[in-house]
Amino acid sequence: MEKAKYIWMDGKLVDWDKAQVHVLTHTLHYGNGVFEGTRAYQTADGLAIYKLKEHTKRLFNSAKITAIKPNFTIEEMEKAHVELLQSNDFKGNVYLRPLIFLGYGVMGVHHVNAPVHSMIAAWEWGAYLGEEGLENGIKVMTSSIVRNSIRSNFGKAKAVANYLNSQMAKYEAIEAGFEEALMLDDNGFAAEGTGECLFIVRDGKLISPPNDNSLESITQATVLELADDMGIPVERRNITRDEIYICDEAFFTGTAAEVTPINSLDNRVIGNGKRGEMTEKLQSAYFDVVFGRNEKYKHYLTYI
Ligand SMILES: Cc1ncc(COP(=O)(O)O)c(C=O)c1O
Repeated sequence: MEKAKYIWMDGKLVDWDKAQVHVLTHTLHYGNGVFEGTRAYQTADGLAIYKLKEHTKRLFNSAKITAIKPNFTIEEMEKAHVELLQSNDFKGNVYLRPLIFLGYGVMGVHHVNAPVHSMIAAWEWGAYLGEEGLENGIKVMTSSIVRNSIRSNFGKAKAVANYLNSQMAKYEAIEAGFEEALMLDDNGFAAEGTGECLFIVRDGKLISPPNDNSLESITQATVLELADDMGIPVERRNITRDEIYICDEAFFTGTAAEVTPINSLDNRVIGNGKRGEMTEKLQSAYFDVVFGRNEKYKHYLTYI
């Protein structure tokens, strides 16, 4: 990760190297914090944040779910994203990481008296699963780690604590020589990747699991809108791992991962082992949207 000039912290722009916290920061010990992963792209009309409103709304929903009272309003946080990008001098595409966390002052599990802080960092970041991955797809394994159960974790929240689950699944997959993990839910159906939602294509139909056991993905919503534009039939239903082995195409969606084809699962080659035809169409349409080349979707862009 390349350093930028400033990080936004509680209403101020702070030098990158000075954006620090105390070692007794509550979130560091007990894991209650909420965050977003947002992207800004260099469009023909300059840098623009994709779906800023949707990401900020989800950030505040996550805070509500985890009983954190944000110390800024939604409008203030949206403005802060813009201010941060204006103050840094980015030449490439940017990843933004807002985080609302509990700070130093109170120890113990009961969190409500801990001070609340907000920060946003931004840096230039390329394809999360690699340029090569976007073109030729990635090798995925089904994880032995089950996706956080909705009985005990809050899957609608992009909560810091949820990512131990993702981290362990990702670690297992990378150590085993794969590029990403697919986690199953409590019932053995495909849930999601460690930071992505799943789509498969079978007989011309686009299929994605319901969001009961996956984050309500902002990228997934865009892909579903694009599929509707293209007249592609869509099903939202459970998918088993063996159905993925025999599907025609599969891909992951996520703000970081964008639209990344999956070329194999558990060493079973999917389709022809390359980026599928429908995947390529949707991926290309997705990039048109985020780079401001599709008029219909320009309202999702916040120009800096
Ligand atoms: C666990 C998980 N699932 C799915 C996604 C995809 O969500 P989005 O498209 O909103 O980035 C993410 C990334 O935020 C994630 O962390």
